[in-house]
Amino acid sequence: MNKVTDLTLDGDVAVITLNSPPVNALSAPVRDGLFDAFTAAVNDPAAKAIVLLCDGRTFIAGADISEFGKGPSGRALQDVQALMENSPKPVVAAIHGTALGGGFEVALTAHYRVAVPSAKVGLPEVKLGLLPGAGGTQRLPRLVGPEVALQYLTSGDFINSDVALKSGLVDELVEEGKLREGAVAFARKLVAEGRPLKKVRDLQDKVEAARGKPEIFADFRKANARRFRGFDAPEANIKCVEAAVNLPFAEGMKEERRLFEGLMTGSQSAAQRYIFFAERQAAKIPDVPEDTPVLPVRKVGVIGAGTMGGGISMNFLSAGIPVTIVEMQKEALDRGVAIMRKNYENTAKKGRLTQADVEKRMGLLTPSLDLNDLADCDMVIEAVYENMDIKKEVFAKLDGIVKQGAILASNTSYLDVNEIASATKRPEWVIGTHFFSPANVMKLLEIVRGDKTAKDVIATVMKLSKKIGKVPVLVGVCHGFVGNRMLAQRQREANKLVLEGAMPWDIDRVLYDFGFPMGPFAMSDLAGLDIGWSKDKSSSSTLREVLCEMDRRGQKNGRGFYDYDEKRNATPSAEVEKIILDFAKKQGIERRKISDEEILERCIYPMINEGAKILEEGKAIRGSDVDIVWINGYGWPVYRGGPMFFGDLIGADKVLAKMKEFQQKHGDDFKPSALLEKVAAEGKKLHQL
Ligand code: 3HC
Repeated sequence: MNKVTDLTLDGDVAVITLNSPPVNALSAPVRDGLFDAFTAAVNDPAAKAIVLLCDGRTFIAGADISEFGKGPSGRALQDVQALMENSPKPVVAAIHGTALGGGFEVALTAHYRVAVPSAKVGLPEVKLGLLPGAGGTQRLPRLVGPEVALQYLTSGDFINSDVALKSGLVDELVEEGKLREGAVAFARKLVAEGRPLKKVRDLQDKVEAARGKPEIFADFRKANARRFRGFDAPEANIKCVEAAVNLPFAEGMKEERRLFEGLMTGSQSAAQRYIFFAERQAAKIPDVPEDTPVLPVRKVGVIGAGTMGGGISMNFLSAGIPVTIVEMQKEALDRGVAIMRKNYENTAKKGRLTQADVEKRMGLLTPSLDLNDLADCDMVIEAVYENMDIKKEVFAKLDGIVKQGAILASNTSYLDVNEIASATKRPEWVIGTHFFSPANVMKLLEIVRGDKTAKDVIATVMKLSKKIGKVPVLVGVCHGFVGNRMLAQRQREANKLVLEGAMPWDIDRVLYDFGFPMGPFAMSDLAGLDIGWSKDKSSSSTLREVLCEMDRRGQKNGRGFYDYDEKRNATPSAEVEKIILDFAKKQGIERRKISDEEILERCIYPMINEGAKILEEGKAIRGSDVDIVWINGYGWPVYRGGPMFFGDLIGADKVLAKMKEFQQKHGDDFKPSALLEKVAAEGKKLHQL
């Protein structure tokens, strides 16, 4: 036995305790320790039953992801599982925290499982581009049936203990905080009652019942095609469940191994595993240590009850933090509050909230028409019109109203946070919090650090954003920060390509096929082409202006870059095609055929280059932070790892060569950043900077 496992006797029950912080992941020492401990417990004549328990915050949270891709070392997990399953004495897994992935697969090889009520179990491998590779895909369907197994395996969702109990994933719940006693008592009961050694692998009824019913799988694939689009792992998980239904256990295990290895060596899982760690890394700020004191935020103020202000408020209400929301006009305030209520009620209709939850959340909201009502807030977030003068005016007013020691945040998406802060006498308390629309849904929060923003303010907002379910990324002051600054590159090229020869739907198709939820033109139609456009000032100088002049305003009036039917289905518009051809002619542009490859490279490579520039200027801390922004804020497909990771997959040298080629043909929009040149020359990786 090594120092991560401990074996003690509690009367006639052997208790194996695993202690490998932070999450008891199945690293080589853990597998070795478990193997030795189970061997000793099985061979100890004084032990009549064996309990596996974990110290610390959780039961085993899975394989050690950081080991993946490295050479084999230590005992195979399967050896530990074989010892457990074939033990002549009952083995009980005692679960608290989260039993996930390989951890839950270990529990599934125990003869019985007990858990505390707060525990969760699950097989989240699909989120890492994988499938459970230690028998999970074969055992789960035997316990819960293939239909439910398909849901769990392809969503990776965690399962609460009450649901786990009902579906037989867990055999008994024991009192919170008394797991050890409860598990030992349960084990003793098994021995006293002579209960059989239940092996999940031997259960047949649920898989047999599904045999000869291929429609179970066909229907599931069809119903989820959209959700699984582009991803390899869901299909591999489905194939494993098919194997569980159609093949004997041992054969199913072989199929699981074969498919697991295929995923493990592919680029999708590499990208998704990278993102798992990148997201956690983004929370770490080199000069703001982990133990920086955080300020209590018990009450939040939001200025502006529009789409953004309302969405921002909902994040806090959902986390149980009271919000005072301020608008200038009563009508706008009432409308904003009504929309928030409606959003919650829609969620309740889908069964994801109770009406009591809706009332509780709305009960935490105080609508107001008076900025003075924000005086006692611990944090105030301004979400008014994106205009520097207006923002400065609001901040100057806030400075005179809000108590000292409160955080003043701006939800600006482009503007200079230092200049906004300069309108107050307390710039160290000012920070940018750039939410993404819809703000109650989108995970990303760009946190903008001003020159004077205090470290405890940064630490507080980083921690708070986690509390409200966001993925925070700290960025520096620059126009558009990380996300919008890179987006501008893509948008510029998309617009140019349309004039040079591509159609909006060609560009949208290429980016959709790349994995984005929609392309830039479909996106513009959704947002409205007339945002920021006014008839009086329109001068037909851009394609967008011409479209607005022709009353093509986007989805909202059924006509934008596309034509829309009453169900908002888009079709390419012949009228738009003609407008584009005329416009290009007027500009003296000779159109040419543009390949899909060029569309992709022209749209994506300048973004990678801009990402490198952002890093060069120190506006993002690391390359992986840039990727986290794009995955969580702009629908970049997670299986492609973000623009920096993707750039490395292509090769920084190849991206650089293309940028130079484009620079020759199309000018300095493609001027390579010094950092891209350096990375390419030194053979480094952008995502590891
Ligand atoms: N392997 C290695 N490190 C892990 C890990 C894992 N499986 N799970 C978590 N960690 C690390 C994190 O990187 C983090 O490290 P850091 O402090 O240095 O940043 C630390 O543990 C704490 O993690 P979180 O910050 O995520 O802590 P939370 O309390 O918020 O969440 C958790 C805990 C729910 C367990 C979450 O970490 C999680 O979801 N982990 C991944 C679970 C998972 O995907 N398991 C399946 C792995 S694949 C597998 O098992 C294959 C098998 O089928 C063969």
